[in-house]
Amino acid sequence: MRLTILGGGGFRVPLVYGALLRDHGDPRVDEVSLYDVDPRRLEAIGHVLEQMAEQTAQQTAAGHGDAPRVRATTDLDDALSGADFVFSAIRVGGLEGRTRDEHVALDLGVLGQETTGPGGVAYGLRTVPEAVRIAEAVVRCAPQAWVINFTNPAGMVTEAMQSVLGERVVGICDSPIALARRAATALGLDPARTRADYVGLNHLGWLRRLVLDGVDVLPRLLADTSALQGIEEARLFGPDWVQALGALPNEYLYYYYFARDAVASVRSEPDTRGDFLLRQQREFYESVAARPARAYQRWQQVRAERDASYMAEVRGADEERDAEDVAGGGYEGVALAFMAAVMRGTPTSMILNVRNGTTVASLPEDGVVEVPCHVDGAGAVPLSPTPPDQHQLGLMAQVKAVEQLTIRAALSRDVGLATTAFALHPLVDSVTVARDLVRGYRIADGFRQPSTRRP
Ligand code: G6P
Ligand code: MN
Repeated sequence: MRLTILGGGGFRVPLVYGALLRDHGDPRVDEVSLYDVDPRRLEAIGHVLEQMAEQTAQQTAAGHGDAPRVRATTDLDDALSGADFVFSAIRVGGLEGRTRDEHVALDLGVLGQETTGPGGVAYGLRTVPEAVRIAEAVVRCAPQAWVINFTNPAGMVTEAMQSVLGERVVGICDSPIALARRAATALGLDPARTRADYVGLNHLGWLRRLVLDGVDVLPRLLADTSALQGIEEARLFGPDWVQALGALPNEYLYYYYFARDAVASVRSEPDTRGDFLLRQQREFYESVAARPARAYQRWQQVRAERDASYMAEVRGADEERDAEDVAGGGYEGVALAFMAAVMRGTPTSMILNVRNGTTVASLPEDGVVEVPCHVDGAGAVPLSPTPPDQHQLGLMAQVKAVEQLTIRAALSRDVGLATTAFALHPLVDSVTVARDLVRGYRIADGFRQPSTRRP
């Protein structure tokens, strides 16, 4: 089977390759095609993968011949031809774009973050046209392929791609899966034996129940303040607040429930997350170009630093992440589990971003939601989560309206629609600020550019 990775020079690609190296099922992915707009990034990641395969071969009896073959290209159609699976993990505008998304908003006193709030709208406006162009290329070059979208803002981008690919594209995020795993582990349970009853949009959802042998064990966890201390999200929100909600919120809800605190703490830091990563990643790619023989070793160090400092801007300097959380949120595991279920027809369930249909009443049928799904050879079908309560539904509905406006604005290049999208976002508290955001992000200039050269 052939897997094509779009954004193949990206820093997290070795996580996916590592998971492929560990997978010995039948059939399996035996060929990986990396596509990126930047040949230097492809070369650097190529070195990491090669050294990773060598080291794995030395440590196991499998031998080097077992490692999936890797090829790299900067030609999209070439990369896609013959693909059985496509991972899309691109970053339109690069990390420079991420820092601009953050700073323009922060300078106006509102949240500047990669996916949440006005930063996410700006990122979506830039990314949606590219995602649709990719979806059209998949139809042209690999019409049978399954597409797994990691590209953020993942809910919005998956939804835009579905307008071309239908249900052959699903969106993946590691945060709900990591939340469910942490909840089970805090109770001393094997996560594989529990079922997560989760509902939301991407980066805006709640673990409502955790079911073990037909019994909901979440109330037991919520009542146990010391067990809650073992869960990153509960430490972030505080036990009182998760108890008041009666659910465990996705970590990204911190930006809503503690909106002022989040803006204040991000602004109090000298660097945003994007600033930090821009410097760190630039240094990583330069150091690999200078010393290619040490690519894998350097990647491991940089990865540990990146994961340990995840969300540090709101967690607080003295808050250390648990070793297990730093080791892996499950990003690559979910992708592999999806592919394994589809290519081998072995049924499984996992939380994915899929078309709502009638899963959450009152949300648009064509809107993408993040819910537990049944996955097998025919793809993903949403299972019925416990319906969201009024508060959850209200927030989901408002943010979904913003996402859909953003998609329409991006595809029609309509500055008025973009302004409405910013203005209706719950984290933008004034239409005046929305207009300032549109000016600050230079949305009109962006819409006049050919899509690949947007500011
Ligand atoms: C999690 C989220 C992703 C997000 C990433 C940011 O994995 O699920 O959607 O892109 O964190 O991590 P970073 O290291 O780039 O700040
Ligand atoms: Mn995510």
